[in-house]
Amino acid sequence: MGKFYLTTAIDYVNAPPHLGHAYEKVCADVINRYQKMKGNDTFFCTGVDEHSLNVYRQARAKNISPKQYCDQMVPAFKQAWESLNIRYDRFIRTTDSDHVASVQKLLQEIYDNGDIYKDKYKGWYCVSCEAYLQESDLIDGKCPVHNREAEWLEEDNYFFRLSKYSEKILEHINRYKDFVTPEIRKNEIVNIIKSGLQDISISRASEGWGIALPFDPGQTIYVWIDALTNYISAAGFSDDGLKFGKLWPADLHIIGKDITRFHCIIWPAMLLSAGIKLPLRVYAHGFMTLEGKKMSKTENNFIDPKSIVEAAGSDAVRYFIIREMPYADDMDFTWDKFWMRYNTHLANDLGNLSSRVLSMVEKYCGSIVPGFGKMNSGNGGFQEAVFKAVNDYHRLMDDCQLSAALAAACELVTFANKYIEINQPWKLYKTGQQEKLDGALRNLLEGLKVISVLLHPFMPVASGKILESVGVGKDGETNDFSGIKTWGSLPEGGKIRNPGIIFPRKEKD
Ligand code: MSP
Repeated sequence: MGKFYLTTAIDYVNAPPHLGHAYEKVCADVINRYQKMKGNDTFFCTGVDEHSLNVYRQARAKNISPKQYCDQMVPAFKQAWESLNIRYDRFIRTTDSDHVASVQKLLQEIYDNGDIYKDKYKGWYCVSCEAYLQESDLIDGKCPVHNREAEWLEEDNYFFRLSKYSEKILEHINRYKDFVTPEIRKNEIVNIIKSGLQDISISRASEGWGIALPFDPGQTIYVWIDALTNYISAAGFSDDGLKFGKLWPADLHIIGKDITRFHCIIWPAMLLSAGIKLPLRVYAHGFMTLEGKKMSKTENNFIDPKSIVEAAGSDAVRYFIIREMPYADDMDFTWDKFWMRYNTHLANDLGNLSSRVLSMVEKYCGSIVPGFGKMNSGNGGFQEAVFKAVNDYHRLMDDCQLSAALAAACELVTFANKYIEINQPWKLYKTGQQEKLDGALRNLLEGLKVISVLLHPFMPVASGKILESVGVGKDGETNDFSGIKTWGSLPEGGKIRNPGIIFPRKEKD
């Protein structure tokens, strides 16, 4: 058993989360549950990024303090994650005192190592990106991502010697093939580094909202430097050496593809400067789009996670967003596609499989798990199909290829439904072939169990119900993969309970 420390990006608090943010948190929750089931001691951190200029301005407009403003916004995030069944261990806020201490400690170490110096900054800034832009990045004076006027900034700032770390980061990326994934993002990062890194400004003289530089309290630390540090803050960097020694380096940072530059260049450089180990892997997922445009609060182009959870339940939303988002690309959301998948994959394929199998066991075997009867030797390829699906599933899950892993589990659903059509248990019943019937139903029950265990990280509620109905785990909880290591481990003679319809068909509305 090892440890697994995983993190998500921390969201800006200036608007409630949308389905794109939810995608990332669900991804992390799925991986966290999977790692737990593998027996790892996991720690999952998510949270919010509060020290942005946007927050400062919105709070001023409302005539409240920025902290009060954040306090009002945070519940929307926590409620959204709860409604999606996301179980994190730490919800970090960048105003938390251990985080503030951690940022100051890190910056002091970088400063003491000679990697921070004072200079004049002049340049363009996009408040929505919270990032500096080159003149060449602008389109008609506007940020190309947010279509918003860039602002001209000119002031004395502290700079971080990012350029000094180009070679070391490149070397690290080339050495550890999983450090930046997927490949397309790695290539982007390598190209950026090869085209030459410049030192970056890491403080603001003009801003009152943020963490003060420990060696010059008149300056506020740049929000990205502050935010990136959350990953070590939550691991105990400032206040719990034992915890930090156990958790760090992070096993996985899950982020969106727009912020790889911060995570795969600036963050590793900061850590290298302070002599701290680098995270093992960064996985940069694609965007959820709506009518082809990135879901975004600023563009008022988004789906509210609450509306979709209310319409279909958390499992269905988790299933859909994970299944539809390719590993390295974007996914366009449409309600049509959502209901189509719901009705075919969940209500028809999975829901029907479980209710058919369980009602046949009720009817033909008195709700008792039968023996394998005559099916044991030639069981119609069930074991082989399971073996293949389980192997594919683990390989893909370990590589963060969640959509493909989910598809591998669902192939078993298709297989089991075909198995019913081929073996026609109702005919075996009518013709009195009880032993064959028992064997067919036993295979189906075993298959249903494997399917539910594999689906558990994705759809904990539905899979829990099915597992409970076949007699596995207390209250439908499953803790590990041990129950599917050997074929045929359901206790013969055990009682099954039919939980009824798990995914009722829905008319799209
Ligand atoms: N605060 C920074 C992250 C700091 S991490 C040290 C930030 N916040 S954000 O609210 O803009 O985005 C948070 C996460 O959500 C990012 O990983 C971002 O890529 C992701 N997404 C935001 N919009 C998204 C979609 N439309 N689709 C998928 N993910 C999206 O960046």
